[in-house]
Amino acid sequence: MIKYIKIGITNYRTHGAFYGNIIHLVILAGLKFNCSGGIGRNCPKILNLHFQHLLFSMMRIKELLMSRDFESRVEVRGWVRTRRGNKSIAFVALNDGSVIHNIQIVIDMTKFDEEVIKKVTTGSCIRVTGKLTASPGKEQHVEIHAESIQVFGTADPDSYPLQKKGHTLEFLREIAHLRPRTNTFGAIFRIRHALSFAIHKYFNDNGFYYLHTPIITGSDAEGAGEMFRVTTLNAADPPLNEDGSVNYAEDFFGRPTNLTVSGQLEGELGALALSNIYTFGPTFRAENSNTPRHLAEFWMIEPEMAFYEIQDNMNLAEDFLKYLLRYALDHCKDDLEFLSGMYDNELIGRLNFVIGNQFERITYTSAIDILLQSGEEFEFPVSWGVDLQTEHERFLVERYYKRPVIVTDYPLEIKAFYMKQNDDGKTVRGMDVLFPKIGEIIGGSQREESYEKLTRRIRDLKIPEKELWWYIETRIFGSAPHSGFGLGFERLILFITGMSNIRDVIPFPRFPKNADF
Ligand code: 4AD
Ligand code: MG
Repeated sequence: MIKYIKIGITNYRTHGAFYGNIIHLVILAGLKFNCSGGIGRNCPKILNLHFQHLLFSMMRIKELLMSRDFESRVEVRGWVRTRRGNKSIAFVALNDGSVIHNIQIVIDMTKFDEEVIKKVTTGSCIRVTGKLTASPGKEQHVEIHAESIQVFGTADPDSYPLQKKGHTLEFLREIAHLRPRTNTFGAIFRIRHALSFAIHKYFNDNGFYYLHTPIITGSDAEGAGEMFRVTTLNAADPPLNEDGSVNYAEDFFGRPTNLTVSGQLEGELGALALSNIYTFGPTFRAENSNTPRHLAEFWMIEPEMAFYEIQDNMNLAEDFLKYLLRYALDHCKDDLEFLSGMYDNELIGRLNFVIGNQFERITYTSAIDILLQSGEEFEFPVSWGVDLQTEHERFLVERYYKRPVIVTDYPLEIKAFYMKQNDDGKTVRGMDVLFPKIGEIIGGSQREESYEKLTRRIRDLKIPEKELWWYIETRIFGSAPHSGFGLGFERLILFITGMSNIRDVIPFPRFPKNADF
């Protein structure tokens, strides 16, 4: 041990705090250390071995449940989900968020101080060391026979709100600070993580660059929705111009600024240099949409590709979505099975169905024909020129085609200024991907690359051309055909988890009259 500490000091000098910390932990863990390999180069290797040993003893429940290293001494930390038993034995279900399943801790009550054990109640946070043992129970293969228990934090049974099972999702929304400790939200947030990773992996593997577009923007020209103003002016007493309007020249940026509704316009600048880019960031819309599919703050993935026409754009969108669903099935099996059993037993079948079938591709004009001929009574009447409502989208997907649908070539009047104009003078090369249960999951288009057509449209829509000088300039200098789309991350997670309200697939939802937590 003494020899080892000396080595540690040598390494502390040469390798800095990293090994120093490991050594410190090894000493704390009281593990035997035998460094016969001498000082210097061999030591990092030896330390590493022991570091792994240390990690093993601190394994997370996910790994422990898969371990068959019976009789080994292990340590777990986590939150108590339930406790049952009697005066002589207690069974504690412990969860640390690494996996949907709990590990069972078996406590021989005669071996522990009653005062400590009393504090091991639902919601409390504990550290347990003990022996990993084959479990005789049907529910699990392994359990831990406790040898020591430390209570990190108690949870008063009279006030801890997650006592019983079966809380409504509405109630859980009110305790968003604690709902990650439920099975449902643990599963959803693990899936959210896995899919975030998969998105980066997909693009990285396919030669796309992650471009960080700004959150604060001076342009409000996209027209994708109402924006949130960003200001440091005193709302109660703002500086005024002579005509009584607010003088934004005195504001932080010397001009009005907002939170972005989309990274697209800046994404296009990136694509017209790096060819294929994507953004993945938060976007903000101040529309008063109190629906199960809208948030005021949501995450969007926006790839933008030079030299892609609308067909290429559709191919990418379809391949991307199928990749993500496959990734979820391959990497989130336990969580998906849990959610499927809890909320929606058609979930996994639906994911497989979408992966296994080609998306239908139709024009807006044929979609309108289908809706008109359907004989359905829609709440929003259908005619050529109206925007498709969720009820129309869901009819096409769920009842008519029974598969995802990509609708293209929408009327010019209902789509954004940047979409490439078709030769008919009436439609633009926009595309929406419609999914079962969700409606629109992706919105995108080929972009207008002609300077003349773009600026004419900007003027027709009375969009302040001066504000967009930088965007327009890319159509003067080396313009190129290009396309892109935006995938709403929460709508994707909604589809993958089978949940029905978008407020339940983001940790801390923002919607009208709610910005708690
Ligand atoms: O159709 P949208 O408005 O398209 C754009 O913003 C384009 N600039 C994207 C692009 O071409 N780069 O939004 C794209 C997607 C929608 O299809 C939907 O999935 C999601 O973003 N979305 C929302 N998700 C949650 N809450 C909201 N309020 C949303 N608004 C749009
Ligand atoms: Mg849209």
